[in-house]
Amino acid sequence: MRFDERKEDELRPTTAKVGVIKNAFGSARFQMGKTIAISGVYGPGELHPRRISQSDRAVIKVYYDMLSFSVPDRARPGPDRRDHEISLKIKEAFAPAVIREEFPKTGIYLYTYILQADAGTRCVAINAASLALAQAGIPMRDLVSSVAAGKIGEKFVLDVTKKEEDYGHFVENNKWYGKGAATDVPIAYVPATKEVSLLQLDGEVSEEELKKIVKLGIKGCKKVHEIQVKALKDYYNEEN
Ligand code: CDP
Repeated sequence: MRFDERKEDELRPTTAKVGVIKNAFGSARFQMGKTIAISGVYGPGELHPRRISQSDRAVIKVYYDMLSFSVPDRARPGPDRRDHEISLKIKEAFAPAVIREEFPKTGIYLYTYILQADAGTRCVAINAASLALAQAGIPMRDLVSSVAAGKIGEKFVLDVTKKEEDYGHFVENNKWYGKGAATDVPIAYVPATKEVSLLQLDGEVSEEELKKIVKLGIKGCKKVHEIQVKALKDYYNEEN
């Protein structure tokens, strides 16, 4: 049994809302369990500095930040090394999906903030960002959907929490949780083209095990995709 009593292939309770920041071209909030991300998009528009512009396509600038109050130990305000690395990974995750050739010489600014973190923040940020880009009218081959899968002890599980990530060295009320190691694999997937656009591995597994984890992750991404599509439909049906 998992700590939160989920089935092995079950997502945490997941909610999504499009159009949460009226001033942005597109925006969304995405929550998986206790991890919450908000994303806002500006553009396509003028790019700063101009010298980084590309004559045949838009340049996407991604900004990921974990807000100070999002974690138990106050995170230092402003992006650190980890945040820069995650920004780059999010940018790569959108590369096969966004049709950048439609807006040459422009910039698309994609901001993602983590309001509350309980693992999987890069995935939840991607899910929010996908919806924000869609609402902003940025043409994409499909929404990008993301979730982490992993091997926790001997179990293969979907949508890993912080407690699961720390399996084997997690202590609460002087009690140790778990025997063995935890491996966490964040995955992003573009359903229309069947491309995996984010794949990172934190831990140690065999090639066979990794294949199993990726398969489980893709299954999870498809579930996330359904939730994203519903959020977009709800937005256009209800308000606009
Ligand atoms: O969040 P994600 O799983 O994409 O990335 P990570 O770097 O593997 O971080 C895993 C989790 O550790 C985060 O989601 C937070 O819950 C926690 N964390 C933290 O508490 N304080 C930090 N400065 C960084 C991460």
